[in-house]
Amino acid sequence: MTQRVDAPEQAIDFNNENANTSANPTFESVLGARLSRRGLLRGSVGSAGTAMLAGFGVSACGGGSDDPAVTPPPVTPPPTGPKLLGFGAVPKSLADVLAVPAGYTASVIFALGDPIAAGVAAYKNDGTDGDFDKRAGDHHDGMEWFGLGADSKRNDNATERGLLAINHEATTDEKLSSYFLHANGGTTTLPRPAAEIDKETAIHGIAVIEVAKSGGKWAYAQNSALNFRLTSLSPIEISGPARGNSQLFTKFSPNGTTTRGTLNNCGTGKTPWGTFLTGEENWFGYFTRGAADDAARSNDKSVTSLKRYGRTQGAASRHGWESGGADDKYQRWNNSKTGTSVDGTDDYRNEMNGMGYIVEIDAYDKTRMAKKRTGLGRFAHESAAFGKVVAGQPLSIYMGDDSRGEYIYKFVSTATWNAADANANDRLAIGDKYLDSGKLYAAKFNADGTGSWVELSLTNTAISGYTTYKFADAADIVINTRLAADAVGATKMDRPEWNAVNPANGEVYFTLTNNSARSANPGSGQYLPDAANPRAYTDMKGTTKQDGNPNGHMVRLKEGTSVLAFTWDVYLFGAEASADKTLINISALTDEQDFSSPDGLAFSKATGICWIQTDDGAYTDVSNCMMMAAVPGQVGDGSKKTLTYTKTDGSKFDVVTPVGKAATADTLKRFLVGPKGCEITGLTETPDGKTIFVNIQHPGESTGMANLGDPAKFQSQWPANAGYGAGKRPRSATIVITKNDGGNIGT
Ligand code: FEO
Ligand code: CA
Ligand code: CA
Repeated sequence: MTQRVDAPEQAIDFNNENANTSANPTFESVLGARLSRRGLLRGSVGSAGTAMLAGFGVSACGGGSDDPAVTPPPVTPPPTGPKLLGFGAVPKSLADVLAVPAGYTASVIFALGDPIAAGVAAYKNDGTDGDFDKRAGDHHDGMEWFGLGADSKRNDNATERGLLAINHEATTDEKLSSYFLHANGGTTTLPRPAAEIDKETAIHGIAVIEVAKSGGKWAYAQNSALNFRLTSLSPIEISGPARGNSQLFTKFSPNGTTTRGTLNNCGTGKTPWGTFLTGEENWFGYFTRGAADDAARSNDKSVTSLKRYGRTQGAASRHGWESGGADDKYQRWNNSKTGTSVDGTDDYRNEMNGMGYIVEIDAYDKTRMAKKRTGLGRFAHESAAFGKVVAGQPLSIYMGDDSRGEYIYKFVSTATWNAADANANDRLAIGDKYLDSGKLYAAKFNADGTGSWVELSLTNTAISGYTTYKFADAADIVINTRLAADAVGATKMDRPEWNAVNPANGEVYFTLTNNSARSANPGSGQYLPDAANPRAYTDMKGTTKQDGNPNGHMVRLKEGTSVLAFTWDVYLFGAEASADKTLINISALTDEQDFSSPDGLAFSKATGICWIQTDDGAYTDVSNCMMMAAVPGQVGDGSKKTLTYTKTDGSKFDVVTPVGKAATADTLKRFLVGPKGCEITGLTETPDGKTIFVNIQHPGESTGMANLGDPAKFQSQWPANAGYGAGKRPRSATIVITKNDGGNIGT
């Protein structure tokens, strides 16, 4: 999603909320940081630093008093096969093109509006198209591959035919309207016409499409009977602890067992039994609440819940979908208490509680209703990555909550893994077994490089005795996960985006995209840097100051022998290559490696490469968003760094943080740069590692409605300028990348 630090006001409201007013930031970490006796604040922007060999970057970084190196664990043997990262780095670029290394080919295969059913007309891309529930949705995001055999059924070994399950997160919008979808940009005042709303609700959700390679070329199959869409109106079952809970009672589902739609789908996951997991991220912004709704609710605890999830009374909705008319499908977006019932069965006061989950979908069977797996908690979900799957052991799933100062979570199944379940025919029944019962934990990062998982349960007195919100039962905890994590003092993070598990060793990598609320001199709504989120600095974008942690970083976790303990370090810091190496470019990134605002994340099982994708607004004066290829090490392979900050009163404090081994030219390299105004997000591969699919989201997003009439004023004309499709309006799209010599991607 559009998560730029310089995003327009509206985008910030809907996509980057700051609703965590809990007092539990990072106190233990900060208290653990010792006062510095040293003098000057180091790390002002622009001090050049000596050029150094990348291999010595971090360990030699000047200014930071490097604590004695921690003893590195045994080194994992390097992967065998062709040399990884053997390609030439793609330079940073502001051109309106998609660039990949020499020797690779990238092709567009599935763009906004492409038809996915027989008889649906080709996309005209002029704002007159309809039938969006039978077309590609907008803002392609996370994506997973599901192999198909010759019998059109699941085949995990297939490499040239499969299904892509694709999230359609959102739409390029301005002043309520999704302007590229409508001939003249659409209506920017309330009420909005139902016909416009119907288009916009239909381009959200997910798509499942068949793709195949034929004659050496990949294409999607418009007429495949396996294709389908779920939209923001598709019926979906509520599963897990919250099923049937009164907080899910609505006029549509008086017993709280179903809801409609999945919304703002961002990251993904794939289960060991072959289903698709999709995370609902910034869903709260689609709902509105009346200006006097708190009083209408008698200021009961539902008001505390709504505020913690970003919906204060009087909040306007992102698109005004509630204004389409009396029909229930419009009224559902009004989250106000309008009815007279005690339990909410005569209105949509509880409708928002049906969003914010990990949803499980059987990509192979469009007849099966998807299920919201409420046991995995309710927040701004990104990806859901499985830890190492071991027969006889519970399954672990890692998740992040992407808003400023939100938390990292883990779900551990009650059931232990039975390998026979991997190939069961009723895949959603296997999902019931592993995803509907288990324990949910929130992460606390300690300053010494250890961490703990704290169970979110009424057996914890911090939750049962919490006074801000009185939890009633287990369902209340999974519906109000953020409040439960507040209660136990989870660590506020710099916007946890995706996570992914290194298949070589089971370590869990998280992107922390950026955070404007991190400050050495925190004002209201801000908090101090801590060990796991150690940077707070000022970056300049032209003449604009960007404060906090504008370039983001990545942490990684190694589980301990107890389910409750882990160790961690900072894997990489995003930064500009020229930035000071003491407080900012701590990873000593070179011009072939520098990136900002890491977001999408995936490991290749075929090569072990860690793919890092950016959704940036901080460094976009220098380069469009990009994708990096990395060969990761492991937790503890680097050393501790000390960052010294000066308060406005002149006193100093240090933040000591464990940092991974410095990247070298052989372990981190830029692989792709996208067209103007896009983010790069979502990556999946064929099992042979010879084909990857990547999504290019919202090219040209800063075009603005006023420029809709003149293609020359579009910020981007991609992919039309790459020869794909009609019209010149920019379109989100899936691309396929192959290596011209038939080798593995990233070699
Ligand atoms: Fe949809 Fe937080 O990225
Ligand atoms: Ca994202
Ligand atoms: Ca800058």
